Formats: sequence, C-alpha cells, structure tokens
Amino acid sequence: MTSEEVRRKYIEFFVRYGHQEIPSASLVPENDPSTLFTSAGMQPLVPYLLGKPHPQGKRLVNSQKCFRAQDIEEVGDNRHTTFFEMLGNWSLGDYFKKEQLPWFWQFLTEELKLSHEKLYVSIFDPSASLGTGGNSGVPKDNESYEIWKSLGVPEDHIFAYGVEKNWWSRSGTPEQMPAGEIGGPDSEVFYEFTQVEHDPRFGDKCHPNCDCGRFVEIGNSVFIQYQKQADGTLQELTQKNVDFGGGLERMTAATNDNPDIFETDLFSKIITAIENISGRSYQDIAVSEQFEIITDHMKAATFIIASDILPSNKMQGYVLRRLLRRAAVKFNSICGSTEKPQDLAVVSGSVIDTYAGTDMLDISKKDEIADVIRQELDKFGKTLERGLAEIEKIAQIDGKIAFDLYQTYGFPLEVLEELFAVKGQKIDRQQFNEEFSRHQQVSRQGVK
Ligand code: SER
Repeated sequence: MTSEEVRRKYIEFFVRYGHQEIPSASLVPENDPSTLFTSAGMQPLVPYLLGKPHPQGKRLVNSQKCFRAQDIEEVGDNRHTTFFEMLGNWSLGDYFKKEQLPWFWQFLTEELKLSHEKLYVSIFDPSASLGTGGNSGVPKDNESYEIWKSLGVPEDHIFAYGVEKNWWSRSGTPEQMPAGEIGGPDSEVFYEFTQVEHDPRFGDKCHPNCDCGRFVEIGNSVFIQYQKQADGTLQELTQKNVDFGGGLERMTAATNDNPDIFETDLFSKIITAIENISGRSYQDIAVSEQFEIITDHMKAATFIIASDILPSNKMQGYVLRRLLRRAAVKFNSICGSTEKPQDLAVVSGSVIDTYAGTDMLDISKKDEIADVIRQELDKFGKTLERGLAEIEKIAQIDGKIAFDLYQTYGFPLEVLEELFAVKGQKIDRQQFNEEFSRHQQVSRQGVK
C-alpha cells in the first residue's frame, strides 16, 4: 500500500467509530516549554488527558508529525528515524481496553490485511523476566491478555514485559516520571518480517522486543490512567484514557512485507534525489547507512525549517544545525569533495514533493527552505574540507582538541565522535564539556 492509503484508511476507520479528526499540531510545541519538539501525538493533548473537556469531544484521531532527537544515534538502519508521522487515536475518559485492542486488531487485519501469523503483541507485567527494572506497584495487565486471546491471538504470540518496555510516559519508567506527569501500562503490536534472520549478537533467542530487526513495533496502545505524585507514588487519574500511537512509515512497510521503511514512498523520492546528486546508489551496502542518515536528517531539517526555525547555536536552531552538518559530513563521505554540501539543498524539494497533497508541509515554502539549507551548508562547506584534513593529522584526540575542532570548523560533538570512532578513538565528553564551559566563562568576562 502507499502511505496515503494507510493514513487515509486509519483516519476513516476511527472516524467510523465515532472519532473526530484533529489537525497535526506544529512540530515545535506552542505553549509547552518542557520540550523542544512534538515527539508524540498525545503531547498537545495533555490537558485533555488530565480532564479538561476537548472542544471536539472524547474520541479523537489524527496523523501527527513528530521529531525525536533522542533517537538520533539509532538512525542508520532500515527502521529508525528522528522524524516520523504518528497515527494516533485517543479516548479522553471514554472507551478503554476492550474497545481499543479489538479495533486496532481489526484495522490491522481487515483494513491493512496484515497476516495474523505475522502479528505479535505484548502486555505489561511488572514481574516479567524481560524489561523489569522498578516496582511501579501497578499489577499485571491480565485484561489485555484476555482480550488478545479472545481475538484469536495464540498464547505464543503474546509476550509480557515490565516497565522498561511496556510502560509509557513522556519521561520513561514510573521512577523517571516527575511529579504531575501522566502515563500508564501499554500493549504493543509487532510485525514479524520472517525474511530477516535473527542476529545472535542481540541475544540467544529472538522475541518481539529483540533489536535484531526481525520484529518491528507498529503500534502502541497506552492506557494513561496514572499520575505521578510528589511522594513518588502513582495515583489513578479521575478518567481512564487511551493514547494510541503507531508509526506510519513502519505500518506502510508492513503492508508491503518489506522491512526497509526507506523503500516506502515516504522516502523513495528523497533517496532518488540523493542518488542523483551523489552518483551513488542506496542499494550499495557500502553506503546504505549513510543514505539512511542523510535521508532522515534532510527530511527532519526540512520539517523543522518549515516550522519557522533557522539554524543557530541555541535550542531548536542548534538541533537543526547539527542535523544539517551531520548530513553534510555523511554526504561528503559518500561522494568526497566532488560535490559541495550545499548541493544537498535540492533534497528538501523532494521532501516537499513527498508530502504534496497532504497537509503535513506548506508547499509554498519550497524555495525559502532550500535557501536556508543552501546558506547554512555553504558556510559549513567552507571549513569542512580543511577540518577533515586537520582531523586526518591528529594522532590522538582528547576533549580539548575536540572542542577546538568544534570552535574552529563547526563540527558538532557527535559528528566528531563518529569521525574519530573510525580511527578507533573515543572523545572524553566530560573534558569537552568542561572546555565548553571554560570558553563560555571567558567570553562572558570579555563581554563584561
Ligand atoms: N504516546 C505513545 C507513544 O509515543 C502512544 O502514542 O508511543
């Protein structure tokens, strides 16, 4: 299926069950200083999950653009990205588990026509041997277990995990949640790509939460019914909510039984644009990881600039700068100095073309976005070659030299870490940060 078919089927399916469609919120949250980017569809809905009446009712559905900077190191395989579209449906104190799980199952098996045999599910069990790590005081979710069984999911396709895997809040496990934060146990669905052989580097036995890539999570129903208290306990909320989120990219890949999300139509135009300017092919395994990183970062950068953020040294602007510079270094590594980093600006046009016909991106900003990228990478391109040559000469890196490279050539720390990892060297982050603070102090005194 195309991504547009999956997106449309999902929204229409939940509208049939009484949901109102709400627009995707901005990627840069309005009135929420707690986070730089919208990272889940539930984020703009927190006041309503806490009990405030939503103007559109108690059943909502949408497709939300999300950015997760914390996932940046996972990008570079066939299924992780920093930017993604999350299909979401919510019950604001209305329906609960016995509606949500059968509906999602029906959506997957009847609308997307995914094979039952390839679907696995997980439920919360605080005593489970995998993913324990804290006593939440919340009991095992037997209700979800029974619902999955009643839907015909065989017992050997139902797995139980503890708080590390089957608890969701914006800040992680119950122990990590600050007072006031909401969350709850969840139940996930995974698709098994049987053509992917289990990789024993990830453990003796494969299972839905194994990281080898055979199983991919395609949806997560969170039962938001708790709020963390100042005394560290969890208290039941006055209303029990459902917060479902599933990655459009991964669901689309599952409908095609192809484990590589970069081969869905959500990425193919972007990959082609990078192939055209680099002269390299994504199918060449020597460069596929770099392609995945460049593709993800250019897509995320395009969406961030479309949200009126410009590259800078602060907040969202610095995240944007790091994405563009990392993409530029990877681009340089696949095609050398024959191409200039600013050539990557044209890739943003292919991102916009990918989303034409959706309301995810403002198409009229096409030229403006390309100009921002061109200017930023033109500046970085001037020092990139010299910086790389300098790095070649360094026999042993330390935090201080790394800071000098950051200062002089503009290499973000994680890019330096990657460049030196190739030489088998590690950068002392603490020393880098100390150097950074010292420099800030000196410049503050200078200003005084
Ligand atoms: N908030 C949950 C998640 O991000 C479900 O939407 O996985």
